[in-house]
Amino acid sequence: QLPDAVVIVLFGATGDLAGRMVLPALVEVHRRGLMPDAWRLVGVAADELDDDAFRDRFQAAVAASEHGLCDDWDEVRDRTRYCGGRFGPDDDAGLPTLLEEVRAELRADTGAEPLVLHFLAVPPAAFGPITRGLGAHGLAEGARVVFEKPYGTSLASFEELDATVKEVLAEEQIFRIDHFLGKEGVQTIYVLRFANQLFSSEWNRASVAQVQIDVPEDLDVTNRIGFYEATGAALDMLVTHLFQVAGQVAMEPPADLRDPASVIAAREAALRAFRPLDPAEDVVLGQFEGYRDIEGAAPDSTQDTFVAARLWVDTERWRGVPFLLRTGKRMAAKEQRITLVLSPPFGPLGGELEEPNTIEIDFAGEGEVALGITVKTPGPELTYSSGRARLDLDDVPGGEGLSPYASLINDALIGDRSLYTTENGLRAAFTAFAPLQGPDRPTPLPYAPGSWGPEEAHRLAAPHRWMLGE
Ligand code: BG6
Repeated sequence: QLPDAVVIVLFGATGDLAGRMVLPALVEVHRRGLMPDAWRLVGVAADELDDDAFRDRFQAAVAASEHGLCDDWDEVRDRTRYCGGRFGPDDDAGLPTLLEEVRAELRADTGAEPLVLHFLAVPPAAFGPITRGLGAHGLAEGARVVFEKPYGTSLASFEELDATVKEVLAEEQIFRIDHFLGKEGVQTIYVLRFANQLFSSEWNRASVAQVQIDVPEDLDVTNRIGFYEATGAALDMLVTHLFQVAGQVAMEPPADLRDPASVIAAREAALRAFRPLDPAEDVVLGQFEGYRDIEGAAPDSTQDTFVAARLWVDTERWRGVPFLLRTGKRMAAKEQRITLVLSPPFGPLGGELEEPNTIEIDFAGEGEVALGITVKTPGPELTYSSGRARLDLDDVPGGEGLSPYASLINDALIGDRSLYTTENGLRAAFTAFAPLQGPDRPTPLPYAPGSWGPEEAHRLAAPHRWMLGE
């Protein structure tokens, strides 16, 4: 339920993430009428700016975003305040005073106590100090707190961070972002599965031979080389986004799709059924040729810019069905696709089909659902061809998609954590990922920029093939 009034406190408000994603998404939520009438934004960052200087930056960021400024921009500008300085357990940057002033205004306007939503768009090293600061300065009680990714970089660092955060916040107050869960195409999995007999009856090992979750990117890493040298593709994308999407595909039907607790429990159970990766058998790492020549990369760097993994989900529904996960930088294309590769039917043609049927969900942009099916080739002969039937989610009548960040901010406002990651879910993800962070981590194999990654990755998809690519 939407509160009567809300103050969004954005930490890292002058940073890159805030400018590119969070500030435009806040305006999108406002433009779509999803904010309570009484809302305010308080930007917090180290830069010493006055309100107007921050509002100018806010305006520039939103003007440069996809939808640009909203019609009532001046009003949004007036809702905004700024608080500059260091914030942590020992420094309050003047935030408690400013926040109380803003809350009092809203209280006077609405008669209600406003919800405070802290949004931590800051580097992970700042998560602990800021959370402790919220506790020390009395700003945590009753608040919700959104944490950006990555929330931990290993099982141990996740546990340590979560223990620090839990000294101040209860799990129910914590909203850990994985923006892939906010994508329209990923959210549509629920309805596709649970509202269509056609899909719900086939969504299991009896019909599905393989699940592929494929996120090739043509992006370079030159402008984020410092981050990349410290992170790599597997940590940046696999244990986070791809595992969470795999959890969405693999989960059992929740008892009640509108009850967040029931959805969370279903996804956690799926993640807990992920078998820890076997690096020797089931993982191929790659590094694009030329990576080590990038200024800032170690000349002998063994960082991965590509990962393909075969994940096993040990539930009755999925046992024996490989989940093939793949992503990398400087690959041949940028796509984001889930493909369920179906087993052939048992009828008279089943034995001779070369192309499997597929159920495909594209979750880039607005999203698309497609079916790969076999039909008779029109004409006199009984021959057949494969084709694709597509539904653009953007064309679904009555709808207008939300960007992932706007969708997740809306959920935080109404207190729905079902598309956020949880303590149990992340613990399970890092546990399944841990073998890739140990001594058995394979050496990345070289691949040509603009290719589909190392040849070796094809082995994982046998007897089928990666449905995207050559
Ligand atoms: C980020 C990763 O979380 O997600 C990037 O750090 C990646 O490496 C990006 O490119 C992909 O996000 P999107 O919004 O393009 O799907």
